[in-house]
Amino acid sequence: MRILIINGPNLNLLGLREPEIYGKQSYTELLDFLNQCGKALDLELEFFQSNHEGAIVDAIQEAYGKADGIVINPAAYTHSSIAILDALKAVALPAVEVHLSDIQTRERFRQHSYISLACLATISGKGFDSYREALIFLKDHLN
Ligand code: DQA
Repeated sequence: MRILIINGPNLNLLGLREPEIYGKQSYTELLDFLNQCGKALDLELEFFQSNHEGAIVDAIQEAYGKADGIVINPAAYTHSSIAILDALKAVALPAVEVHLSDIQTRERFRQHSYISLACLATISGKGFDSYREALIFLKDHLN
């Protein structure tokens, strides 16, 4: 099973960026954690991170026919991007939305997600574990 994990803007700055909200671990540590999850769950993982909306749309389009599912943390684009929503709808791959922080208990503008309209589930507020739970959810779904 091939899963594409997409991370949006500023997630490359994990560790440095508002550690009280997003934790002290770096993006590289997130990838190490996910590689361990991938091995434990017997999943083939591919990673993509970009600070650019169009590049994320391209990555979703390119996943068509290659990936079996998508885990996506669209970061700030969660709350604004109809283009990413439409790309997910277009390829119609099973997708799970994740967030490190609990977007429902933060500022009002973070409480709405366009992306959730194209996702099977949203897992939020569990730090790195949000991604692990999303992988387990997708694996169960695909089985
Ligand atoms: C985030 C939450 C978003 O509101 C924010 O813009 C991010 C990260 C999270 O993982 O908690 O960049 O997606």
